Amino acid sequence: MRIAMACDHGGLHLKEDLVVFLKELGHQVEDLGCFDEEPVDYPDLGQEVAQKVSAGDVEGGILICGTGIGMSIVANKFPRVRAALVHHIYAARMAKEHNDANILVMGGRVVGSGLAREMVRTWLEADFQGGRHLHRLRKIEEIERRNLKG
Ligand code: RB5
Repeated sequence: MRIAMACDHGGLHLKEDLVVFLKELGHQVEDLGCFDEEPVDYPDLGQEVAQKVSAGDVEGGILICGTGIGMSIVANKFPRVRAALVHHIYAARMAKEHNDANILVMGGRVVGSGLAREMVRTWLEADFQGGRHLHRLRKIEEIERRNLKG
């Protein structure tokens, strides 16, 4: 799977760890930064990944900032992006099964590497369940059509 990733300084170490993990799992990772601890603004990095997911250039994205909150706010401004901020395995699985989340967001100051790796694995391996959940995603698309351009 092609996965785009980005972080700000608050998510740097977790992002670096997950890049290694994803490559070990055989995924193709597009690492869009940041690459050092110099403070950066999360909207600048987050929009790079969200744009690629929105355009269908990659199949999924992972975003990490200090809490995950800023990155999820940014990503969900983009059409067709369903970004889910997760802190535990159950949410990571539901993010795919019920919400078909195409971007997983985590807080680098909130979760450790072990949990983050398992959340990523869970999200990647889960399948969207469709049915009544698809009906709800259609409603989200309708909200996008009414409120978002692009
Ligand atoms: C940066 O200090 C911090 O505000 C950022 O990483 C993120 O947590 C914002 O939501």
